[in-house]
Amino acid sequence: MIILGIESSCDESAVSICKDGKILSNVVSSQKVHNNYGGVVPEIASREHDRLLNHLVVKSINEANISLNNIEGIGVTKGPGLAGTLLTGVSFAKGFSQSINVPIIGINHLEAHIYANFLAYPKLEYPLVCLLVSGGHTQIWYIKNIFDYELLGDTRDDAAGEAFDKGSRILGLGYPGGPVIEKIANKGNSNAINFPRALMEKDNLEFSFSGLKTSLLYLVKKEQLFDVEDIVASYQKAILDVLVTKLLRAINIKKVNTCIIAGGVAANKCLRRMVNDKLNNRINAYYPDINLCTDNAAMIAFLAEIYLMKGIRSSIDFDVVPNLKLK
Ligand code: KG4
Ligand code: ZN
Repeated sequence: MIILGIESSCDESAVSICKDGKILSNVVSSQKVHNNYGGVVPEIASREHDRLLNHLVVKSINEANISLNNIEGIGVTKGPGLAGTLLTGVSFAKGFSQSINVPIIGINHLEAHIYANFLAYPKLEYPLVCLLVSGGHTQIWYIKNIFDYELLGDTRDDAAGEAFDKGSRILGLGYPGGPVIEKIANKGNSNAINFPRALMEKDNLEFSFSGLKTSLLYLVKKEQLFDVEDIVASYQKAILDVLVTKLLRAINIKKVNTCIIAGGVAANKCLRRMVNDKLNNRINAYYPDINLCTDNAAMIAFLAEIYLMKGIRSSIDFDVVPNLKLK
């Protein structure tokens, strides 16, 4: 099937076309306007999606080398995300599906992040453990079979991506924090400062990053003499240590041979190296290409095709769900 995917849950306006589980085009426009504010401004983000989506659809169709009447279905993110930006994308997608008379399905953004791994590695086999790490979520899932999820661990406060973004903000390094922190951390000593790692006691699979953020804030306020590279490298290491430790625990508890990492933080190369080092070829670890880790519409189109092939579709009056859960 040829499916058009639309993603507008936050500040990436994205459109993609997939056919039979493969990407024909994948267009992402990251809204730079928010950089001036140190974070996403919801109203501005909605207006930007509204301004961009039509152009991105045309671009996506051209790049895929298809015509409008080849499209057989539409997938659009219905949540979780910002209410206004979701509404912009869903309203656009509904109008478009009506005008070309094809089925539409509202897609869970978290599920799409997970399925980006199946898009990248079609031969992936269940059961597996997934570390889902994005700007709003830090969770560990046991996935026994297709669409069969068990939540093993969640964050009690900030998400890992949020820890990167807030840390970057405290240090005045800009938004989004993940990529800039990763870049600067490469030049620093990750053992220079011993930042706290929360909830590390045996068998605990929960996360908490708010103490780490506060500890960075105190360090900066005390004006202690550390190089910014060393602060950043140590801060990143504290986040990644916790993620890797808990992922390994979950793998051992569930006795799986495969793990996948999904969401924007999975783009972090240091995280990938640490996981590979710790697993030492005992377990197969998969991460999608970096452009499939951060928000994109290929993962939406890919998952929409799986649902539509099963005959599952949404009715035209479906709602956006800003706090949508995976389960
Ligand atoms: O999945 P995503 O694009 O959007 C959400 O669904 O939230 O994730 C965005 C998050 C941001 O917090 C961003 O700082 C983080 O992913 N991120 C990274 C990297 N690239 C993006 N974190 C660490 N290292 C990176 N290279
Ligand atoms: Zn995302």
